[in-house]
Amino acid sequence: MNYHMKQLLLLPAAVLTLAISYNCSKPNIKSDPANVSLDLPSSPFEYNKVSTSIGKLNNYYEDLTLLDNDKATLGRVLFYDKALSINNSVACASCHSQDHGFADITAFSKGFAEKPTERNSMGISNLVDERNIGYFWDARETKIESMVFAPIANHIEMGFDRIDLISTKVSNLPYYNDLIQKAYGTTEVSEERLRESLAQFLFSIVSQNTKFDIGMYKGFSNFTASEKNGMQLFNENLCGSCHQLAAGFSSSYGSIKFANIGLDKNDNDPGINGLYKIPRLKNIALTGPYMHDGRFKNLEEVLNHYSENIQDNAKLHGFLKESTGAVKKMEFSEQDKRDIIAFLNTLTDMTTMTDKKFSNPFN
Ligand code: HEC
Ligand code: HEC
Repeated sequence: MNYHMKQLLLLPAAVLTLAISYNCSKPNIKSDPANVSLDLPSSPFEYNKVSTSIGKLNNYYEDLTLLDNDKATLGRVLFYDKALSINNSVACASCHSQDHGFADITAFSKGFAEKPTERNSMGISNLVDERNIGYFWDARETKIESMVFAPIANHIEMGFDRIDLISTKVSNLPYYNDLIQKAYGTTEVSEERLRESLAQFLFSIVSQNTKFDIGMYKGFSNFTASEKNGMQLFNENLCGSCHQLAAGFSSSYGSIKFANIGLDKNDNDPGINGLYKIPRLKNIALTGPYMHDGRFKNLEEVLNHYSENIQDNAKLHGFLKESTGAVKKMEFSEQDKRDIIAFLNTLTDMTTMTDKKFSNPFN
């Protein structure tokens, strides 16, 4: 056997040993960038603008500065990159899919080791409206730049518990050089840069081009009778007092940001002392299953809950009680339910769901 042949035989063995030793104790800081190719435009997409029926409007970051197109471009690649998980198996987008309002279609998503998450994945859109509330079902993260690394480090989601090694891993992926250079002026990879660019991309996902948004400028002349009736029922039954209209049906401009809606008499997930963040309803038709534990498969089941199944408990919000203190029974007719669902469907923004600037850039 000549020298070269021996080398060829030894090489795979060496690579294998390396891979095994990394897998056992240390994060997998080796990854295979050789086959990666990215489909990115020569000048960046306009992440700092959102299309609406009255033209393009500015898009803002958490501190209300205009978004940066190059940072958001870098963030887009990170969002879709499986290298951000310990074993290169899941990306943010695995549980936040563009087709589904940036949520997942199962109650509990599978993380890097196929273990289920403890809560239902949340749709991502209009995060700028969440900046005074906090992120996650219990709003435990109050700053987006600390929030974005939580899933990467999470022992179920992406498993990168040595978060200090994430910059090292990204520095070893050559396709990031140019992206970081464009966003920050040098190729240096730092945690701060990764956090900020991911967060910039998340904030760029804004849905403002729904039938509802268009209707706001037209006195809802674009609505069917059923959608109009659904909107009226939504307001009369105080749905709109919690899911605030002004903020993409989130709660940021309302006085209540968290509530218990009587899903159970006793909940074994404490939330925030029994309360949960009031979720945004933009794109709600796409983000099922519903609630923090994904217990309702579809909007019919959600309406059956509000209609007749609200459970009394010490934390139940007053909006869901009668003045006597008894639990409210909205008792919607089948037609009412269909109308409310028709109304909720007007909150879907297909522009966001099909816009290339939010899609997977990996070929
Ligand atoms: C394995 C599935 C999974 C992966 C991977 C994942 N997420 Fe999530 N995401 C979730 C779940 C589940 C929640 C709700 C968690 C909670 O409330 O405790 C969530 C919540 C969020 C929220 C909160 C939205 C809001 O309105 O408060 C944001 C933002 C988010 N994820 C962004 C990301 C980013 C960025 C990444 C990648 C770095 C990522 N996620 C990776 C499952 C996942
Ligand atoms: C007291 C405030 C409050 C009222 C009133 C209210 N909601 Fe909710 N809604 C919430 C909260 C909080 C959640 C999340 C609860 C959880 O997961 O534990 C929620 C969840 C939802 C969801 C599922 C969101 C998701 O992302 O999974 C839908 C849909 C919804 N509500 C629609 C309605 C409709 C329709 C009405 C009126 C019939 C209504 N809500 C009335 C606070 C409220």
